Amino acid sequence: MRIIGTGVSIPELKVTNDMIAEFLDTNDEWISTRTGIKERKLISTKNLFHLAADAASKALESAGKKATDMDLIICSNVANSYITPSLSSIVQGIIKATCPCFDINNACTGFLTGLDIADAYISSGKYKNILLICAEEPSRFCDWGDRNACILFGDAAGAVVLTEGEGLKKIITTTASMPDVLYYRRKLEPSPFVKKDENYKALQMVGKEVFKTAVTSSTRDIKRVISECGMVPSDVDLFVLHQANLRIIDSIRQHLDLPEEKFPHNLDKYGNTSSATIPILLDEQLKAGKIKNGDILCFSAFGAGFSTGACIMKWNA
Ligand code: UT7
Repeated sequence: MRIIGTGVSIPELKVTNDMIAEFLDTNDEWISTRTGIKERKLISTKNLFHLAADAASKALESAGKKATDMDLIICSNVANSYITPSLSSIVQGIIKATCPCFDINNACTGFLTGLDIADAYISSGKYKNILLICAEEPSRFCDWGDRNACILFGDAAGAVVLTEGEGLKKIITTTASMPDVLYYRRKLEPSPFVKKDENYKALQMVGKEVFKTAVTSSTRDIKRVISECGMVPSDVDLFVLHQANLRIIDSIRQHLDLPEEKFPHNLDKYGNTSSATIPILLDEQLKAGKIKNGDILCFSAFGAGFSTGACIMKWNA
């Protein structure tokens, strides 16, 4: 499998740290130094499916493909206003595709999980062209009174077009059940038969625990995919990592003992856009001419679950 097109859609509203400090006990200095985030872009007037469809159309255009060329659409999303039907089925109608569609939810790891599923379909010969969209609006499930979590997130969509090829060298995903460190319990409709405490909660996060688990599991995954490819860390040209906290990215980098130039980041502008961070950063690096044919890329992400994933991809192989 290989990636032949990328696309991004960013919402219009820029929310700076100073804007959040107007209603919350926080400040630009704390957020910038502890997370690396300066601002995030949030959905205000649009719907998430607008962003998802926009990113998808741009990815198709960059791949030189039509929506009707796609054999499958996978959309990674944690939560949006539709529980059903799937976001991917709404996007299918907007972009005028005709293929089957489904959504996945593996939190911030969704892009890696989507790549893994797409690879299984493409390797089996069942499908040739797959559109993978990551569309997220965490601003609508975090608690804007919780300064520990709401300052971290941004909304956005990123998409890639996948087809047959030799680019993907190795992909792994893992899960270690830790439902209490990062979760969002959505309110369901009342039922006359329910006799239990529903305990609805906006996003809850044990930040320090997530931080430690993120660094150890991502470092472990990255070392594992690299060694399973018969490579050493310095063979990787670019690490396109989940953008959650600049200190997490830097700790992973230090464990691998590699230079900063190999770890691009953009969370100063967008914050943590959940599963959309990697396709957005990939698109940005490609447009900036930072990725050449034959370069070895490493993607790695972590998120609620606790879920993780990593892969090695040779660009344009
Ligand atoms: O995709 C996965 C999503 N989640 C993550 O990746 C989160 C990973 N964790 C983190 O990024 C960090 O743990 C945080 C950014 C959430 C917190 O940073 P930290 O360095 O671990 O800070 P802390 O939780 O140890 O808090 C230090 C202090 C506390 O005050 P006291 O107890 O020392 O007086 C907090 O109450 O900072 C305080 N604090 C804040 N102060 C100003 C926490 N949030 C804020 C805030 N502004 N927004």
